[in-house]
Amino acid sequence: KKQTTILDIQRMKAEGEKISVLTAYDFPFARLMDDAGIDMILVGDSVGSVVSGYDNTLPVTMEEMIYHTRAVVRGTSRALVIVDMPFLSYQVDLREARLNAGRLIKEGGAQAVKLEGGENVAETIAAIVAMDIPVVAHIGLTPQSIHRMGGFKVQGKAAEQARQLLTDALAVEAAGAFAVVLEGIPMELAREITAALSIPTIGIGAGVHCDGQVLVIHDILGLCEKYSPKFVKRYADVSETIRSGIEEYIREVKGGEFPDEEHSFK
Ligand code: KIV
Ligand code: NA
Repeated sequence: KKQTTILDIQRMKAEGEKISVLTAYDFPFARLMDDAGIDMILVGDSVGSVVSGYDNTLPVTMEEMIYHTRAVVRGTSRALVIVDMPFLSYQVDLREARLNAGRLIKEGGAQAVKLEGGENVAETIAAIVAMDIPVVAHIGLTPQSIHRMGGFKVQGKAAEQARQLLTDALAVEAAGAFAVVLEGIPMELAREITAALSIPTIGIGAGVHCDGQVLVIHDILGLCEKYSPKFVKRYADVSETIRSGIEEYIREVKGGEFPDEEHSFK
């Protein structure tokens, strides 16, 4: 199978082919979505929320991101793998940002890194791109900014905020990002930003006019039962499948039905 590159992603925008993206954090999920034909896999810092059980993404470390990225890369032969730069790995100074971006590529094995912010991180994006590491930007509802936003709230509803988001989008494109995630913004604003950029926009809670879409795999499979935002569509109920499998196992162990002859050695 042919490895997807950033050139393929740029071509897809130019030709109007929608770009499909999902998150993955381990080998089996990565292999399943790679086989199914996903264009890009994001090793998101959402791993903190959906796998580690934290309330937000802030506690996630570089070591955790590298560990999950290695597993995902081993399960991938075709999709382009992007890894999130965790909180505090790129905000302090450019030297740390470059070093940490390099580690995620060198030790994790991903093809690109993603970081949150607009105008305020344009210099950081340019510094990483100058190392020949492709960068995806992420603007709008940026989960690492939870304390500034006062919760996970739709961004860019007020006119002034919307103008700033367009400015942010243009700034990250000018800084050299090859794509930008638009999260939690009104669909009309996402349409306007998508039309203004030559790099693809990947939406999550940003409507249908983006060049591509991304969702968290645990959300679309119904593996996150505690909270589900409006923009999440459930494509399967895997929790129910897992629960009934576990319950049946417990029943059979308690009842002495498992292991039977078929699953025992003579
Ligand atoms: O961490 C993540 O999963 C993300 C996507 C939802 C865009 O950043
Ligand atoms: Na993220």
